[in-house]
Amino acid sequence: MLRLIGNAVGCREALALAVAPALVSGVWVTTSPQTYERFCAGPARRARWRRWARKSWADLCRGCGLSASRTTKSRTVGLVPKEGKRFAASQSQTVTVWTHPTLMDVTTSGDLLRLMVRTRTGQTVADLEAAAAPFAAAAGARAFRCIHMTPSAVEIVLVMRDALTEVREAGMTGEVSVNAVSLGRRQDGTPWHLSVTGRHTLVVGCSGSGKGSIFWGVCAGLAPAVRAGVVQLWGVDLKRGVEVGIGKPMFSAVATDPASAVQLLTRLLAVLEERGHRMAGRTRLHQPTQAEPLHVLAIDELAVLTAYTDPETKKEASRLLAEILTQGRALGVVVLACVQDPRKEVVGLRGLFTQTIALRLRSADETRMVLGEGTATIAPSHRISPAVPGTAWVVDEDGSTDRVRADWWSDQLVRQVATSHPAPMVEDLTTPAESPAQASTRARPPRSRRTRVSEVA
Ligand SMILES: Nc1ncnc2c1ncn2[C@@H]1O[C@H](COP(=O)(O)OP(=O)(O)OP(=O)(O)O)[C@@H](O)[C@H]1O
Ligand SMILES: [Mg+2]
Repeated sequence: MLRLIGNAVGCREALALAVAPALVSGVWVTTSPQTYERFCAGPARRARWRRWARKSWADLCRGCGLSASRTTKSRTVGLVPKEGKRFAASQSQTVTVWTHPTLMDVTTSGDLLRLMVRTRTGQTVADLEAAAAPFAAAAGARAFRCIHMTPSAVEIVLVMRDALTEVREAGMTGEVSVNAVSLGRRQDGTPWHLSVTGRHTLVVGCSGSGKGSIFWGVCAGLAPAVRAGVVQLWGVDLKRGVEVGIGKPMFSAVATDPASAVQLLTRLLAVLEERGHRMAGRTRLHQPTQAEPLHVLAIDELAVLTAYTDPETKKEASRLLAEILTQGRALGVVVLACVQDPRKEVVGLRGLFTQTIALRLRSADETRMVLGEGTATIAPSHRISPAVPGTAWVVDEDGSTDRVRADWWSDQLVRQVATSHPAPMVEDLTTPAESPAQASTRARPPRSRRTRVSEVA
């Protein structure tokens, strides 16, 4: 009887010991999910990833074709019993020896698992890069990227949980920034900044891929600089002005039909030539100031202007744009153009853009066209889901690729920003542009062509 009672108490204690941690976790996760994630679930998950990488490294390398094997003969010497005595005898055996790339370091941060890998003899970093996709698949990673560290070492970054699934609404900082704008976040959760000064940007993505959030990320991101007078926005929107229309007050000039688009490009080219004459022999790189603002030409659906309009407008617009693209960078005139179709016949000027953003595309061929040869596997824009608009692949300055997601700009937010950050100057596109010779006789653009907004009002 006593033993039975003793057994019952023991069972209860064992049960309590087994249930208590689950109970504590349950209470913790429901009362404070953030601290649970930070101090318990997150570290445990990351430790599991690191353990997995170290433990399965050899198998992974073999499975992904990164290891090399060679067979060798090994001789073992042992004592063999014979006729009641033991004799020394040697035995020859064929063994397979494997060599793998070296796993130099395994680290984790947030949702990323980083593997620092050095090539084995006879291998190049390109071989490691090619194996990153099967590695990612084996790890169950959502995405990956490769960063070249040295000619023989690569960091393979596996994104184990997708930080880009949630929509994040854009916000204004009010900071006057001309060099770069903050557009959203990278797949490791860090901010994604896009250089504006000295860059021509081509944004490519099929219909509904989220070109609008990048268009407004740049234009509205520059709004404080527009209000301060150090940036001037020029808009071309031949889809009846539907996109640019919502933020029109921020723009110094907007063209919504092919004829006015050609006028706008002609005017901008005149500004550029005028500035070129003034800068000649004085400086090689333009610094944006109130007197000499950075001009940003923002074009929504470039193909309407360069491919789908009447042949004459198409030819003239392409010529003007090519001149702006080739001369503008150093003179403080940059272009941001959005387009659905990256084929050469649609965007003959593709090669003149200095940075590209690949939103959701239709095929691996399109990814190659936009981001360059060899990017279809390491930056598969054609695999971006339609459920995550604003997600894109970009090529960073160091040549590595990264997945990003732009913050979402609602129409209401764009209107609000445009109303509170109007352009101080508006351009009158109807007056003819003057020749560079005329312009060179003056130090500043003529008042008659530029009007302060307060004067218009
Ligand atoms: N960064 C984003 N986050 C979440 N949703 C977004 C984001 N960007 C755009 N969207 C949503 O995706 C849809 C399509 O976006 P958008 O109009 O910008 O596409 P688009 O590429 O400009 O298409 P089109 O070429 O037809 O104009 C819209 O409903 C928009 O609200
Ligand atoms: Mg659009």
